[in-house]
Amino acid sequence: MEVVKTLRELRSWRADCRLRGENVGFVPTMGALHEGHGALVVQSAKENPRTVVSIFVNPTQFGPNEDLARYPRTLEADLKLCRERGANLIFVPEVETLYPEAADTWVDVGMVGNYWCGASRPGHFRGVSTVVTKLFLMVEPNKAYFGQKDAQQATLLCKMVRDLRFDLEMVICPTIRESDGLAMSSRNRYLSEAHRSKATALIRALEFGVDLFQKGETNASVLEVSMRAKVSELAPEASIDYLGFADSFNFQPLAVIKRPCTVLGAIRLGKTRLIDNIPLGGS
Ligand code: PAF
Repeated sequence: MEVVKTLRELRSWRADCRLRGENVGFVPTMGALHEGHGALVVQSAKENPRTVVSIFVNPTQFGPNEDLARYPRTLEADLKLCRERGANLIFVPEVETLYPEAADTWVDVGMVGNYWCGASRPGHFRGVSTVVTKLFLMVEPNKAYFGQKDAQQATLLCKMVRDLRFDLEMVICPTIRESDGLAMSSRNRYLSEAHRSKATALIRALEFGVDLFQKGETNASVLEVSMRAKVSELAPEASIDYLGFADSFNFQPLAVIKRPCTVLGAIRLGKTRLIDNIPLGGS
């Protein structure tokens, strides 16, 4: 496994793959890797002769009062996980490589990013779509791998790939969970022991919402009130950012629930923001 920092090294490695006729799978990350990322690397290594992982804490997707400065940076452990899961190249660029001085060109995916995390984190999805566009142009992957845990991000990036006619396949992999159901996330390591024990309130509330929907309740407001009550019952100290049902194709909030939809939520425990979702496909 090679670790490269510069665009020149990345492009020369990529050109060699092309000469050998080897397809490239790509897993973009911000580091602080966990088994969720591990599963993406394994999937890519299974489906492609070569796998690239990028590790880059992207400043433009953090708001002014968010956790950019304290975002966990664990490069040695990240490299170990990537090596063990079968990655071939790790791209660890400097900020200037992605954002040359005075860079001011942006990719804005529009409607899909307006709700939920887009509403509570203004500018977040513009930062995500811009950095992922730049990384796609640099790595030129045949396939790119993202987790279902960030469902809105995944939907938005799939739309971006279609809209900009990127010649690559998007692969969205299932959420990997701890044994009690908590979705794996780099931010889970911020949780105090007390908050960790309450963190499953979110998935339990989403499951509760799905259960009520399956029993026949289709009114979004009724479902939201019930899910809010469940979070408050299980984790009274949690503050709720949002809970609701989205149309799976455009992520617009649904007033009357119909499939395919995604039930999703975000809560804060102390300074830690947790998100999760359950996709309800089919009809
Ligand atoms: O999901 C993430 O870790 C980030 O949003 C991504 C896709 C690597 C872009 O910085």
